[in-house]
Amino acid sequence: MRVIALMNQKGGVGKTTTSANLGAALAEAGQRVCMIDMDPQAHLSINYGIEPESVEKSLYTMLVEEGSFLEAMQRLDKRIALVPSSIDLVAAEVELVNVPGRETLLRNRIAAADHDFDYILLDCPPSLGLLTVNALAAATDVIIPMQAHFLALQGVGKLLETVQLVSQQINPQLRVAGIVLTMFDAQTRLSTEVVRDLQQFIEQTAGTNLPWSDAVLFKTRIRRNIKLAESPSFGQTIFQYEPSSNGAQDYRALAREVINLFRRRGEKQQAPAPAAEPSGETVAPEIASDPDVQPQGD
Ligand SMILES: Nc1ncnc2c1ncn2[C@@H]1O[C@H](COP(=O)(O)OP(=O)(O)OP(=O)(O)O)[C@@H](O)[C@H]1O
Ligand SMILES: [Mg+2]
Repeated sequence: MRVIALMNQKGGVGKTTTSANLGAALAEAGQRVCMIDMDPQAHLSINYGIEPESVEKSLYTMLVEEGSFLEAMQRLDKRIALVPSSIDLVAAEVELVNVPGRETLLRNRIAAADHDFDYILLDCPPSLGLLTVNALAAATDVIIPMQAHFLALQGVGKLLETVQLVSQQINPQLRVAGIVLTMFDAQTRLSTEVVRDLQQFIEQTAGTNLPWSDAVLFKTRIRRNIKLAESPSFGQTIFQYEPSSNGAQDYRALAREVINLFRRRGEKQQAPAPAAEPSGETVAPEIASDPDVQPQGD
């Protein structure tokens, strides 16, 4: 089971849109998926038509009231489940402040679901507080949704510092799987520059023992697509709302990329280590991508 934290402390970069629609796309591709809404804003729950005011069991039940994973989880479809957020989650960070082991509460609860899902997606809030730390402590991987923005790389240092701290102190298996560009406009010079900077950054850390040394810049760019912004207000994913839109195509492509990436890594872990290979994974083929390869127009 892969537990993926969708994380970026910057607000409005597409964490929730990616959690909701990558989750649905993974399920469409035959994977068993559970999403956990880690954000007191509850946007992921609302995206799936669940009102946080009327939720009885939620992430709060699991973290603060010591409820089980099964209790807090709702099955939405054959292959999709969700642990919703609720309004009381906003108090959880304060309520848990003196609880011993407060950073690993989620990890301990999730362990029970190990055989039930192929993927658990954690939609993090836009902060680096206790809820995000719980997500990082429980995760096997981090995916960073990011806008190709003027200040896109600002703040990434702080994010990676947090990842490294959690990996050193709580969760040594934690890896940054990659960065996915959201709300992407391929035509702009700015986005070309941001892509180049990100590729450079990734190349520089390849072969080190940092948790992001084998991170990739996902080839799939999630294009700006109004349908993706509209679908949550109908309590629908893009696949229910507009299954042939660019948004649906992009999240399908991202799901394929994610599945292939982890399949390759799974095989690599199982394969016997080659005798005289230099250490470190080659990331070049992953990032040698052309931002313009995707079809345009909606
Ligand atoms: N590819 C896209 N095209 C158009 N609009 C998008 C796209 N992705 C996200 N949006 C819209 O941008 C806004 C922010 O997206 P989203 O809520 O997913 O970001 P977030 O990182 O989860 O935000 P927060 O930090 O508040 O949790 C939302 O209104 C969403 O509908
Ligand atoms: Mg969000």
